[in-house]
Amino acid sequence: MFPRLERFDVDFDLPDAFIPEFPPAIFLSNRPELGDVSRGEVVSINNYYRLFKDILTPVQLDGLRLLLTPFPIFFGKGQCGSCHPAPFYLDNQMHDLHLERLLKNEPGDGPIKAFTLRGIKESPPYMHDGRCFTLEDTVEFFNLVLELKLNDQEKQDLVAFMKQLWAFPAVATA
Ligand code: HEC
Repeated sequence: MFPRLERFDVDFDLPDAFIPEFPPAIFLSNRPELGDVSRGEVVSINNYYRLFKDILTPVQLDGLRLLLTPFPIFFGKGQCGSCHPAPFYLDNQMHDLHLERLLKNEPGDGPIKAFTLRGIKESPPYMHDGRCFTLEDTVEFFNLVLELKLNDQEKQDLVAFMKQLWAFPAVATA
């Protein structure tokens, strides 16, 4: 029989004791009759297209591509991953962004808990007080506050990365 169907996420759902020789099976919850769609392979940026091109929509394929692509700006230069780490894109810690540095004669917000970035596309406006209306605004905000000096391409990539944190289709792992 097919296993219990749940959402599959490459970061999140691979078991801790993952053994490369025995990659977990992947079942699509909307097409369980296909069986293990990974066909026994470890899904990676190199084989995802061949494995999934006939069973996922172009949008889903693109979401999967982004999910499998290491994102150097999010986890590197942008430092986003240090407070919003995978798989929840959340560290459950308080952070003081010290906004008073950038404001004249106004107090900062003090320590605030970071929010998860999963499904972030669906929940504008952003930040505890809704000061950012779009994801582009949040990237500008952190660019300023963290003094990242991101260029336009890097900003666009960060927004694209955050938008796909929902896009992977519902599938199951065995
Ligand atoms: C020093 C820790 C830290 C870093 C680094 C950081 N964030 Fe955040 N992030 C936070 C905190 C704290 C909040 C909540 C702030 C608030 O509500 O005022 C937040 C909120 C957000 C939100 C709004 C979430 C929501 O639900 O409203 C987005 C989007 C976001 N961060 C994206 C990013 C991106 C993109 C980067 C990298 C460029 C980044 N963050 C780097 C701590 C951090």
